[in-house]
Amino acid sequence: MSTASEYLKRLNRYKTLRVKSCQSVSGLVRVSGAKNSALPLLAASLLTEGLTLKNFPILLDTLYAVEILSLLGKEVSLTEGVVSIRGGVKTYAVPSYLSALFRGSVLFLGGLLGAIGRAKVAHPGGCPIGKRPIDQHLKFLESVGCTFSFDGGYIYVRLPRGVKSRRFRFDVITVTGTENALLTLAGLKGEFVLENCALEPEVLDLVEFLKKLGMGIEIEGRTFKVFNPSPESLRGKRISHRIIPDRIEAGTFLVLGALLGEPLRVENVNPNHLGSILSLLKRAGAKLKVDKNSIKVERAERIKPLKVRTEPYPGFPTDMQAQFMAMLSLADGTSEIEETIFENRFRHAAELSRMGADIEVKGRVATVRGVRALKGARVNATDLRASAALVLAGLVAEGETLIGNVGQLLRGYEKMEEKLKGLGCEVYLLEKDLKDMSP
Ligand code: EPU
Repeated sequence: MSTASEYLKRLNRYKTLRVKSCQSVSGLVRVSGAKNSALPLLAASLLTEGLTLKNFPILLDTLYAVEILSLLGKEVSLTEGVVSIRGGVKTYAVPSYLSALFRGSVLFLGGLLGAIGRAKVAHPGGCPIGKRPIDQHLKFLESVGCTFSFDGGYIYVRLPRGVKSRRFRFDVITVTGTENALLTLAGLKGEFVLENCALEPEVLDLVEFLKKLGMGIEIEGRTFKVFNPSPESLRGKRISHRIIPDRIEAGTFLVLGALLGEPLRVENVNPNHLGSILSLLKRAGAKLKVDKNSIKVERAERIKPLKVRTEPYPGFPTDMQAQFMAMLSLADGTSEIEETIFENRFRHAAELSRMGADIEVKGRVATVRGVRALKGARVNATDLRASAALVLAGLVAEGETLIGNVGQLLRGYEKMEEKLKGLGCEVYLLEKDLKDMSP
């Protein structure tokens, strides 16, 4: 057993990833629990006396969240795959130096409001992929009658004594916005209706947990009918919950399989969560065999070009866009990728171009003209999923690739280096900064 700070210290040592060209991958890789489920569930642990999360991924973002829980007064014990969180909440303020490190920190707003009725949080950080406002989170809080004050970069929110409105419609579909609303409602008695909600499997994982806690939640289309018998009746419970498999990590390995699998078996997956990813991979030419909890993938003889458009779930996820771009760089023809969720999520295109990819970005559309081969280069991980795209590109490219700013990868992928080594790849985490390495 190690503490979160010890894990953080270990992971934060790494600055660069060295990736060598790989001819093929084969064998079995086990997908970890979903980062974007773990984060709302960690925030939800504030609502309970005791929560044990299984299939828990140990990576930078979840470790930062564990640090926040400890600062809020929770006792946390962490072992491989399991985190246990006990005790009460002792304070309501999340320090800005931790909020700034990851987007998921915004979920402590809802978690604290649901648990103790007040919260002081700073604007969240996370991937630099767009403006990433939280106006919808605040609009919801306003609708139920919360009071706000802003001070020194912090926002201080209190739950109302009497509820103002019991029906709220999101103007845009937002994952953490929906999660924050659900967490907040754990602190308010009675019936509520949320419209135009996000339906990502990670949101539904939180819904499952809240039902275990005693809340009633019915879902029809994008409308959630929420019933809270009384906030007091939810508290003091001890709950155990298994986090769903990470569909984005699974998707990342499936793209690797489509490029190099001979064959590759991706295990601990829920194929029902992967519909749009699997259908596009098939169209690209990958050979897939889907079982209940695992998927076998064999490389495509030639990657076929695709038209890809990111959309809220069940559409194709924005979190897989970069990895698909890496794959389509080698397609037999020209692909078009439209990013409809985030306005600045093509920064990996410039990095892939350094490796020989032919990509033209105009606004929200990237045109990817397939090339015969990519070449290893020195590149920079501009955000979490961009880093995964560069790993894939590095493995399939000729020669060696050095990926700087590898902390981005470690934010969201558990043991990526170890898992890739297990498949026969040569990848090495280095403590040296890319800029200090001789060319
Ligand atoms: N939006 C607003 N106002 C808001 C909230 C969102 O205009 O108040 C807009 C955003 O600017 C964006 C769209 O709504 O254009 C969708 O953003 P959303 O709120 O759904 O994103 P998020 O909740 O901040 C989560 C994931 C992201 C993932 C997106 C979309 C977590 C912690 N993060 O972010 O994951 O890309 O949903 O599926 O759950 C990642 O894991 O690499 C990652 C970036």
